[in-house]
Amino acid sequence: MKSNVTVVILAAGLGTRMKSKKAKVLHEAGGDTLLNQIIRAALAVAPAERIVAVVGHQAQQVRESVHVPGIRFAEQPEQKGTGHAVMCAREQVDVSEGQLLILNGDGPLLRPATLRKLVNLQVTGVTGGKIVTTRLEDPTGYGRILRDEHGMVARIVEQKSVTAEQHEIDEINPGLYCFNAALFWSHVGELRPDNTAHEFYLTDMVEIIAKHGYAIAPLFIEDETELLGINTKAELAVADTILRGRKARELMMAGVTIENPGSVSIDVDVEVGADSVIEANVHLRGKTKVGEGCRIGTGSVLRDCEIGDGTVILPYVVAEQSRVGKNAFVGPFSRLRMNAEATDGTHIGNFVELKKTRLGEGSKASHLAYLGDAVIGSGVNVGAGTITCNYDGEKKHQTVIGDGVFVGSNSTLVAPLTLETGSFIAAGSVITKDVEADALALGRAQQTDKPGWAKRRRERK
Ligand code: UD1
Ligand code: CA
Repeated sequence: MKSNVTVVILAAGLGTRMKSKKAKVLHEAGGDTLLNQIIRAALAVAPAERIVAVVGHQAQQVRESVHVPGIRFAEQPEQKGTGHAVMCAREQVDVSEGQLLILNGDGPLLRPATLRKLVNLQVTGVTGGKIVTTRLEDPTGYGRILRDEHGMVARIVEQKSVTAEQHEIDEINPGLYCFNAALFWSHVGELRPDNTAHEFYLTDMVEIIAKHGYAIAPLFIEDETELLGINTKAELAVADTILRGRKARELMMAGVTIENPGSVSIDVDVEVGADSVIEANVHLRGKTKVGEGCRIGTGSVLRDCEIGDGTVILPYVVAEQSRVGKNAFVGPFSRLRMNAEATDGTHIGNFVELKKTRLGEGSKASHLAYLGDAVIGSGVNVGAGTITCNYDGEKKHQTVIGDGVFVGSNSTLVAPLTLETGSFIAAGSVITKDVEADALALGRAQQTDKPGWAKRRRERK
């Protein structure tokens, strides 16, 4: 992408009103951090190499939280205001030409289309820049827009400085600026911290540039919801709901059926194929990918999972970092974790847990089993109550089960252990030694029968 736009995202503040030890931009809405959400939008107008995030509070964690490669960072060691934050980015940006787009780091609802509109807005004559404005029923807390006689933006007055008269102004600054870069950088030195907060206000650049004779054009946006800045946990929850609502809608427009969309919670990066059905109260997290024609049962929580086409996840399955193949059945009440893999056509039933285990094609574990650190072949039947004893108190050991093995109910498989192809484990066995191919292994006490014993006992009473 050839771009003359440089983006500076202000993300150095702590966000005192969040009442949290965690820097504001690290808080999540819609399944990703506020900062990553803004970077997503910024990528619509500039390549990663031209996006600079100004970091300060918990700088290291904030840098590490960004998962788009190539994003640049600038450090603002002390938070001396939004204007000062931009100054700190100077060395990371092209100061001689193009447009300088500045975004507050706490506005995760911004749509890419709005940024494109701002960047592409053509204004006749020499302009100093463009800024987005909107109207709020309650403008408290926001900088107020003061227009000149030509309708251009003459000044922004911060909440702390508004006069009683200005208090009534409901056109506000949502924190989205697009300056002429050369002009901005040649005058940024004129900012002074001459306000009650003793900060360098970025918003003062509007008046400075206007005073030099360059107009700042407003781009009025009707729908204020995408311009909300997050300052409190309550606002964070509102943003989260809006982002998840957008995500559900996007999936539905792509052919996914969602029952009771308000009840599901789907992270931004999740993918779901057409003709899949997401039942109510499902949570799809992280990088989860669901194929086509699947069904995800109510109450299921899947994080970073891959589900193949045509697979049915029955209600209340909890799975992380795991894969399920095509046309498989999982649940209800199954648990998959730590790189578990249930391949095509497998069945995993209620109260079955798979940890670091691969279940081969068409194999079944239909009820009550713990399968950990196991490699299980195809066509295997794992009986109810089977346990792989993978942990000896110090180390984890592997269980290998060949193709076509039948593991009888309530078997205890003490690892390390190999059950070779086609072998048969009698129900209730404790198996401690490898079993050779096609053999029957019985590992249980022999049954003793005492004829008439029960009858005699009854008669004694
Ligand atoms: C700012 C605007 C205000 C606007 C509002 C919109 C200023 C002076 N005021 O006020 O006109 O209506 O946003 O939400 O800009 N930051 C830094 N370094 C600093 C200070 C802040 O990086 O030294 C970052 C914060 O992390 C945050 C962003 O800048 O992401 C905005 O800061 P915040 O303190 O929330 O500004 P507001 O008071 O909301
Ligand atoms: Ca703010």
